[in-house]
This record gives sequence, C-alpha cells and structure tokens, in this order.
Amino acid sequence: MKVRKAVIPAAGLGTRFLPVTKAQPKEMICIVDKPAIQYIVEEALASGIEEILIIMGRNKESIANHFDKTPELDHNLAAKNKTDLLKISEDLSEMANIHFVRQKEAKGLGHAVLCAKAFVGNEPFAVLLGDDIVDGEVPALKQLMDAYETHESSILGVQHVAKDQVDKYGIVDGALIADRTYEVKRLVEKPSVVSAPSNVAALGRYILTPEIFEALEKTPVGKGGEIQLTDGMDILRETQKILAYDFSGKRYDTGDKLGYLKATVEFALKHEVLKDDFKDYVKALAETL
Ligand code: UTP
Repeated sequence: MKVRKAVIPAAGLGTRFLPVTKAQPKEMICIVDKPAIQYIVEEALASGIEEILIIMGRNKESIANHFDKTPELDHNLAAKNKTDLLKISEDLSEMANIHFVRQKEAKGLGHAVLCAKAFVGNEPFAVLLGDDIVDGEVPALKQLMDAYETHESSILGVQHVAKDQVDKYGIVDGALIADRTYEVKRLVEKPSVVSAPSNVAALGRYILTPEIFEALEKTPVGKGGEIQLTDGMDILRETQKILAYDFSGKRYDTGDKLGYLKATVEFALKHEVLKDDFKDYVKALAETL
C-alpha cells in the first residue's frame, strides 16, 4: 500500500532552545528565510505525500497561521505590484493539504504520534520530526518510502552518529540485510555511551504501519518521563518486522542551538540570492578568527 499521509509532531516544549521557545515554537525558528517546519513540509511534498497532519500544542498557533491564507498581506503586495513576494505568500497557503490536531500535554513523541490515530486510519504513514531538517539530493523521506515499497515493513531513518552522542538518540541493535538496510533486533531509547548496542541512531524520519497505534497504547512511560516512539516501535517489533534505513543527506537538529547555527550558515551558503555575498562575509570573518 502506498504511503500517502505524513504526521509532523511539533508539540514539544523545546527546552533546549530556551529562552526563545518560551512563547514561540522552535519549529517556527527561521533558517535563513523560512521557518524550520516549512523545510519539513516541502520534503514531505517532494517525496509524494498528499495529506499532512501537524501535531500542535499551546503557543503553536503561528505554525497554522504560516500555512494559512493572508488576505491583508496579499492585498497589500498586489496593490504595490510586488508580484514576486505575492507569489511566495500565495504559494505557501496553497502548498499542501495540512490538518492540525492538538496534543494537550507534551507527554513525549510516542504520545504525539498517537494523537494522529484518527487521521491515519488503517494505512502506512510517514513521521517527520518538526525540527530535523535533512539536506540531500533525494529527499530523506522519499528514500524511506522507496524502501517501504520494497519491504512493506515499518522503517526508521537512521545514520551513524559519533559514539559519545548515542545517549541523545533512539539506538538500533540490528543486522545489515541489504544495502543501507538493517533488520532491527532491538531499539533502545537514549542508552548510556557504555551500554549502547551501536551508534546507528534514529534521526527524525519514520514509515510506520498502523499497528503502531496499538503498540503505543501499551507503551509505558519511559526515558525522561515521556512515552517514547522508540519504545512503541520496540513493542511493535515483537509482532512485525522493523527495518532501519541509512538515508543519505546531511541532517541538522534545528531544535539544538549549535545545530540551528550550522543549518543557518550552510543554508545561507547555498541560498540562490545570498550565497555570494554571504560567502565573502564568512571568508573575511574566518580570517579574523
Ligand atoms: P524533542 O526530542 O526535540 O523534544 O522532540 P522537545 O521536547 O520538543 O525539545 P527539548 O528536548 O525539550 O528541547 C522531537 C520532536 O517531537 C515533537 C517535538 O515538537 C519535536 O518536533 N514532540 C516532542 C511532540 O510533538 N510532543 C512531545 O510531547 C514531545
């Protein structure tokens, strides 16, 4: 069955990015000239997704506003003949079928995904984290969707991370069964550096079968007092095969201050209009360091 629907959990509290996240969502933090979540929506659409559900929480209304129509702004731009800017604004409000649901309390990523149960129904679906941007030739989600077409099992998007960073991620204990593809034997959420079964980490992209909802309903509270998606997938693994796919592309955690800075600099260096001036600036600055 084709993957048509995507869920973007964006209801987390974003504590790593305080104070900016006190009153505004980290998913709306700007990377050059677009909020982080727009990159994620664009990746989903470029991968062939038809319907998107964004999981929101309190203080997250600006996410819905960003993808809504803005008649006053559009009228103003039209009156001033700013056709290029008008196109940017209009394209945004028409770019996708986006639905919203609230996660009433930030009880963890697994709990956020559970809020998508009614939207998803009985079909496989994608999950893209609202603050994980991947830059690559083929969209990361498309790579996972292609792998799903071959294997028809739930798939986590993974990459190798530095060994001392494993305690920040869901980590895969698995066996390589094909190019870039592991069969998952066990999943461990944020293991300690010494106990981690590998450094193959889940990095914000998933294809899940609908049976994940039953698994999440049984998932106990885990690390950080939250219901973890990794733990839910580990329960699902008892009855269904789960794979991990090592996607290509550079991944940025924009919910982390350093990750955000790296994304901003690297995206600016590729930006159609800004890249030349910005490169000159960065080079000159580097010489003073
Ligand atoms: P993070 O692990 O980055 O957690 O969530 P967080 O709580 O948002 O941020 P920190 O760690 O406190 O800084 C990964 C993704 O899952 C969403 C977040 O919005 C983010 O896109 N999420 C997390 C939810 O939707 N609900 C939750 O309860 C937790």
